[in-house]
Amino acid sequence: MTIKHIAIIMDGNGRWATLRKRPRTFGHQAGVKTVRSTIKTCVEQGVPNLTLFAFSSENWSRPVKEVQKLMDLFMRSLSKETPELLKQGVQQNFIGNLSRFSPKLQQKMKNVAAMRPEKLNMNLNIAVNYGGKWDVIQAARKLGQDLSSKKITADEVSEGVFNNYMSLADQPAVDLLIRTGGEHRISNFLLWQIAYAEIFFEDVLWPDFNPEELIRVMDQFHSRERRFGKTSEQVNLDAN
Ligand code: FPP
Repeated sequence: MTIKHIAIIMDGNGRWATLRKRPRTFGHQAGVKTVRSTIKTCVEQGVPNLTLFAFSSENWSRPVKEVQKLMDLFMRSLSKETPELLKQGVQQNFIGNLSRFSPKLQQKMKNVAAMRPEKLNMNLNIAVNYGGKWDVIQAARKLGQDLSSKKITADEVSEGVFNNYMSLADQPAVDLLIRTGGEHRISNFLLWQIAYAEIFFEDVLWPDFNPEELIRVMDQFHSRERRFGKTSEQVNLDAN
């Protein structure tokens, strides 16, 4: 089965830096290099959709200085990386509650998202100030508005219809979710979109997650049987 959508929780930057007796932001800078190599590998492997958890709604509670440095890093990375990403056929999208960012950063994200590559090879979704519960609630709110304006009736609300209100509605569900850094948690990342995802928890810290590791996980994904609630026999019959 081909992989249509990979999602990644990039964890372990801070510990990677601490191990080297450097400030945590040094780890985030190293993390950007891994973001770059991961995107390149996904494009080379023909993965059409990649979603990265860059900043969670809970991350605001970090020390002000670290949050500020992360914002600066996003801003700089967006300017620096975008020309090469466009060359690779990567379309950038931002998901999350963007209203909490500075007007300057919001404008930057808007500008970057408006730049279309000549030939689209991959959607890169960057989740910032994102939370899986927030996503369900913003969808419910929009749906509620359409219900009250009678654009839709309650009986018409199906999984497919609800999905249309979620972030990433235009992209297939996540096949493969990877979390680096050794924790076994979803941390309020995509919830609705990972209903049937295969989940890989990797001990490696994000700055050390190299293309070989990614390809190894993709190979393991292919060797896992995805049954979607069916029996093995049914899955084998479907495949033949
Ligand atoms: C988690 O590591 C990582 C983050 C909160 C930030 C991720 C950001 C980047 C990799 C850089 C910028 C990304 C883009 C898309 C330009 P952590 O700090 O929680 O590490 P720890 O668990 O070891 O403390």
